[in-house]
Amino acid sequence: MNTIAMKPVSVTNDVVSTNRSPKVISRGVKVFYGEKEALHGVDLDIHEREVTALIGPSGCGKSTFLRCMNRMNDVVEGCRIEGKIEIDGDDIYDRRIDVVQLRARVGMVFQKPNPFPKSIYENVAYGPKIHGIASGKEELDEIVEGSLTRAGLWNEVKDRLDKPGTGLSGGQQQRLCIARAIAVSPEVILMDEPCSALDPIATARIEELIDELRENFTIVIVTHSMQQAARVSQRTAFFHLGDLVEVGDTSQIFTNPKEERTQAYITGRFG
Ligand SMILES: Nc1ncnc2c1ncn2[C@@H]1O[C@H](COP(=O)(O)OP(=O)(O)OP(=O)(O)O)[C@@H](O)[C@H]1O
Ligand SMILES: [Mg+2]
Repeated sequence: MNTIAMKPVSVTNDVVSTNRSPKVISRGVKVFYGEKEALHGVDLDIHEREVTALIGPSGCGKSTFLRCMNRMNDVVEGCRIEGKIEIDGDDIYDRRIDVVQLRARVGMVFQKPNPFPKSIYENVAYGPKIHGIASGKEELDEIVEGSLTRAGLWNEVKDRLDKPGTGLSGGQQQRLCIARAIAVSPEVILMDEPCSALDPIATARIEELIDELRENFTIVIVTHSMQQAARVSQRTAFFHLGDLVEVGDTSQIFTNPKEERTQAYITGRFG
């Protein structure tokens, strides 16, 4: 039987990266839903080619902050954003920014795998097609194979590329969604609880994949699992009631947090 052992629950990613330039800079980011202020001014740097985990109790604003980074909040009625977010120095809320291009630069993977009701091939080919990335069928085929390979799915699907993506298992569907996200060569990948609908084996595969992907991509992952944050991330940001309470190297946050509220959360005293 093909089983994948879960990595032990410990902080394994405490090696200080040599490449720590900020890819995304957030300054004074406030988000309002109508009158309600959901984020109270977040200053956070997301480092390039690292995994940053956003943790904190339900309703603290993790998804809200994640959605700020590719302007998904634009489509939420009554939602308003103040402050500044830059990616490589580009103000993503500048009026001149093309949101479609932005979302190609900043891809997203959701909690529930959501393949299009199309073939496996079309799921991955769709983005490169609409962004005009491939110059012909041959190049498109290469992008599809490359993306599925990097998502660790190629061998499982190469003989059924014309079958519906929705016919795959949950874990396979999530890897398909990751393949779809990376097919347009994004710089940043946002993941909102990408494993919460998956079993432990499928979760372990996605975690391994995230670890591989950080070689090429900057990743921000929201997770409710502190074990997962400890396993996959190099930096962790703890949110509470709309505030970014503390951010630091994952090892420091989990072993030696500076803030009382972080300590309380990671030791399970609330949340
Ligand atoms: N579309 C919306 N309209 C109104 N309020 C919202 C909306 N989305 C989120 N909120 C509110 O903003 C706050 C932050 O929500 P958010 O979904 O970002 O939290 P979260 O940390 O992702 O929580 P969870 O862990 O449960 O996913 C909450 O008080 C929530 O009720
Ligand atoms: Mg959320």
